[in-house]
Amino acid sequence: MIPPRSGWRHVGEPKAPVGLRHWIVTGGLGFIGSAFVRNVLRDRLDVRITVLDAMTYAANPENVREVSGDSRYRFVRGDICDAAAVREAIDGGASAIVNFAAETHVDRSILAPEQFLKTDILGTHVLLEAVREQAIERFVQVSTDEVYGDVEHGSSAEDHPLRPRSPYAASKAGGDLQVLAYRTTFGTPVLITRGSNTYGPYQYPEKLIPLFVTNLIDDTQVPVYGDGRQVRDWLHVDDHARGILHVLENGELGEVYNIGGGNSRENLEITKELLTATGRTWETHVRHVTDRPGHDRRYSLDASKAARLGWHPTVEFERGLRETVEWYQSHEAWWRPIKSGEFREYYKTQYASR
Ligand code: TYD
Repeated sequence: MIPPRSGWRHVGEPKAPVGLRHWIVTGGLGFIGSAFVRNVLRDRLDVRITVLDAMTYAANPENVREVSGDSRYRFVRGDICDAAAVREAIDGGASAIVNFAAETHVDRSILAPEQFLKTDILGTHVLLEAVREQAIERFVQVSTDEVYGDVEHGSSAEDHPLRPRSPYAASKAGGDLQVLAYRTTFGTPVLITRGSNTYGPYQYPEKLIPLFVTNLIDDTQVPVYGDGRQVRDWLHVDDHARGILHVLENGELGEVYNIGGGNSRENLEITKELLTATGRTWETHVRHVTDRPGHDRRYSLDASKAARLGWHPTVEFERGLRETVEWYQSHEAWWRPIKSGEFREYYKTQYASR
């Protein structure tokens, strides 16, 4: 069988890529983006990557250090809202753009929502225009389960209504709707992935797991919001990266795919596991603090559509969590500079009076 010109594979066809393909990874210095870059450069020898990253607070060149010497890796510093920077990254041609660039932290979106709208909505729009203008063959929008809002019962499938409840979730939903509208209006070759809560190495320590792990290593308390009975569905970052790659290579244009870990846990359970893993106790190291305003009680993804496409998470949660704790224990040189920089001010603003 003659492979399609672009080298994209469709379900059931043999994998037969041709030539060195050029992929743009926006936000490639962030947590999930950098995992995608590391995975792709290791597993797809016919792909070269240009990372376009604005190097805002959560970006870190250390996250891609192990691949930055590879001749198939190129870096452009720039904002996805800046069409000239996007053009510079594309550099005359690319077969795919995978958009990881986003403001992602709910608590920061409550303190200062505007940047979320700029990056997550306007930035997505600028990329979609570039896809049209430069005839890019595939655009993957990396989104989140938070666009479905609070899920009291059952699980969110891709056709469930979007009911975002935080400025962050609303900005991501706005991005998703732009992407789908471009498909309908212009036939733009888009795909959307919606991942569940992601954990693993290189996660900026503002999110639940790395914040708690690094606080506990530091012998300080962890702030549990409200009663701590909120439920999240946890996904290892390498599973998430592989899921996005799988959708990029095999997904049907115009479709949305949920990438869920299938590991639903209450925050209290996560907290207990982290206390045990670091040898700390509940009595000495846990502080219940005022709940997050509008806090979604529960997220749960129905990931059966991605499973039908052939993607399945492989990292068993307890093992993944243990290895993540060990990673933070053995990579203090990575997170200590972060926690002593801008983060200190943020932590004070976010937690001091709670
Ligand atoms: P987070 O990692 O911020 O992800 P998201 O809000 O996008 O799901 O939070 C995960 C859960 O942990 C969420 O229910 C809020 C809770 N949480 C705390 O209890 N304390 C904290 O300090 C943080 C950051 C989160």
